[in-house]
Amino acid sequence: MSRTRSLPTVRTDLLRQVGGRNDPLSRVSRVSDWPRVRLHVVTGKGGTGKSTVAAGLALGLASRGKDVLLCEVEGRQGIARMFDVDPLPYAERRIATGLRSDGPADDTAGVVHALHIDAEAALMEYLAMYYRLGRAGRALDRFGVIEFATTIAPGVRDVLLTGKVYEAVQRNSRNKGAREYDAVVLDAPPTGRISQFLNVSDELAGLAKVGPVKHQADTMMTLFRSPRTAIHFVTVLEEMPVQETADGIAQVRAAGLPVGGVVVNLVRPRDLRVKDLATARKGELDRAAISSDLTAARVDVSNGLVDGLLGEARDHAVRRALEDGQRKLVKDLGLPTYELPRLAQGVDLGGLYELAACLRDGGMA
Ligand SMILES: Nc1ncnc2c1ncn2[C@@H]1O[C@H](COP(=O)(O)OP(=O)(O)OP(=O)(O)O)[C@@H](O)[C@H]1O
Ligand SMILES: [Mg+2]
Repeated sequence: MSRTRSLPTVRTDLLRQVGGRNDPLSRVSRVSDWPRVRLHVVTGKGGTGKSTVAAGLALGLASRGKDVLLCEVEGRQGIARMFDVDPLPYAERRIATGLRSDGPADDTAGVVHALHIDAEAALMEYLAMYYRLGRAGRALDRFGVIEFATTIAPGVRDVLLTGKVYEAVQRNSRNKGAREYDAVVLDAPPTGRISQFLNVSDELAGLAKVGPVKHQADTMMTLFRSPRTAIHFVTVLEEMPVQETADGIAQVRAAGLPVGGVVVNLVRPRDLRVKDLATARKGELDRAAISSDLTAARVDVSNGLVDGLLGEARDHAVRRALEDGQRKLVKDLGLPTYELPRLAQGVDLGGLYELAACLRDGGMA
């Protein structure tokens, strides 16, 4: 069952803390940095928020009035969990609508559909489409041929997954009965696998040198290498993910694939002044002032409590300094960069809409 959710209000206070380009108060809805892109591929180091960002980007694009298909290929049902709907089948399901913008020219929200792509179902569909193997395809499935074809060669598996994404992107009015989308967002494999995943020609090189399969792989590569595709990298402000982002960008470029923007996720609030941070880092915050503020707030003050708070302040200040160092490295990558706040309450559906508003107003969507 698919359900479309009503729209929560966006907490502007949280967004404002992140500051910079994402400040919704300076909004007048910036234009998108990627107006020509039909396929947004979201990659990054494991656990940095790829799935969250892909979902937020899909909602952000829908908030600009676009109809969007959000695809996942890792077989984990992350989209269903994030949008709080039943597990997705191999079929396009309507899961959400975008936020309405304040602007008068832009008051129709788009719709997000979601698709869970699995290689076996994609192969069956492919056989049915190109070889009209309706019942024969099902027989192949029974004999285990489909499983054989999709597990024996990892390259074939990737080509089936990307083939379905390609099919969704290039649909047009000639594809009767199939829904057309303004944009497709792919929650993609992590940085270490992304070039190989999209490089279908190489994956098939040993298998198909000529003929229709080779031709299809070439057509897919033409889309993936074109300005209609953007490969975005998600990172957090820590050394390893930032380094992996830099390496990933180099690999993607070397494969002739188009690099998009960098999303810096899980950003801590930047609500302390530089001077106060430096004082906290040195452990020189004013104990007496903290004690008297706590007393004024009717808190039972003990030395242990104040020590604990000073320790936390120092840790926070140290982490902020490390983050600022990593932020500079991200800036030096020279790509459009979008920051997303660390949502204290985790990412529920309301949180996804908050992140979507950040991405839209920051110009990524
Ligand atoms: N901005 C955020 N604020 C708070 N929590 C977040 C934020 N972004 C992501 N998370 C949380 O971090 C965890 C990892 O996020 P997510 O699943 O999107 O990462 P991923 O890169 O897709 O991971 P994997 O590599 O396992 O696919 C999830 O619990 C998610 O809810
Ligand atoms: Mg994920």
